[in-house]
Amino acid sequence: MVGTARKVGIVGIGNVGKAAASAIVHENIADDLYISDIDTERAKGEAWDFADSIELTQSRTRVQAVPLEQLAECHVILVAVNERKKVISSSRLELLKGSAAIAYDIVPRLKDAGFKGIYVIATNPCDIITYLFYKLSGLPRKKVIGTGTALDSMRLRRQISEAIGGIDPRSITAYMIGEHGDSQFAAWSHVSVGGKPFDEYESDDIDRFGKIDRDKIEETARHFGWEIHKRKGNTQFGIGNALAFFAKSILNDARHITAASAVQEGEYGREGLAIGVPVVLGRNGIEKIIRLNLNEKEQKAFKASADLIKGYIDQTLAEHGETAQS
Ligand code: LAC
Repeated sequence: MVGTARKVGIVGIGNVGKAAASAIVHENIADDLYISDIDTERAKGEAWDFADSIELTQSRTRVQAVPLEQLAECHVILVAVNERKKVISSSRLELLKGSAAIAYDIVPRLKDAGFKGIYVIATNPCDIITYLFYKLSGLPRKKVIGTGTALDSMRLRRQISEAIGGIDPRSITAYMIGEHGDSQFAAWSHVSVGGKPFDEYESDDIDRFGKIDRDKIEETARHFGWEIHKRKGNTQFGIGNALAFFAKSILNDARHITAASAVQEGEYGREGLAIGVPVVLGRNGIEKIIRLNLNEKEQKAFKASADLIKGYIDQTLAEHGETAQS
């Protein structure tokens, strides 16, 4: 890292990368924003277009397109790369082969270039790609973070908010746990509103809102990304803003608690994978993994989700002649 300027890099300047870049300049999250893309001319065009907008923002962010290796100077690299023009029909897992190939290309190059900062990964399938970045980068696990179920958890809080008369989602604690994919689940045993456990909150207000349809809320949160994808062919603003929010929490040492895909070393009885759980985000990346005492049903769902992720990780590593931890 060079000097004290806050340097953020974005690799992959497609729809998600652009949404992240926009949030970063508008929220004054970085002093320098480096953009890198396999299409170097495109990256230049995007960087120049952003540079044109700076006078109208609250920031003085210097935006420039750089070769991949120059991202090694950054405190945080946001990963939004995707296989070009890949169309998916039913699951983020269809992106695995293409995304894994990109990880095997760029992570060793950034390692050789001396990158010692923090990766925040949105590339899908997020949990598997996060683990590959961890394995290939040689960085401590706290410095390799997937956006995981952060966005799904925001979707969950919004659904809960709407069901209870519009309480600000920021005043609701609720997480989607597990894979950023179809096997994720809501940890209902740990939902609270204004510090009140959700069961109690619901009973208090049962006359106003009736019984809350938890299954429907959970299902909506789980599949909302698809509902957007079906209609516009991608999702970008939610996830782009999530990337920027992770960068901000890290650079400000905010100690904000969010769901994220975190490499496990036994926290939930598992290792050798990354999976969505609540974490504390700060200057060092994942400052802490929060261990929720999941109930029996949730533990089962966690195991199924972790098994699925681990299966794909092991298969991907085996295809590249490597093994994971158990
Ligand atoms: C979504 C993408 C990031 O859920 O998978 O919006």
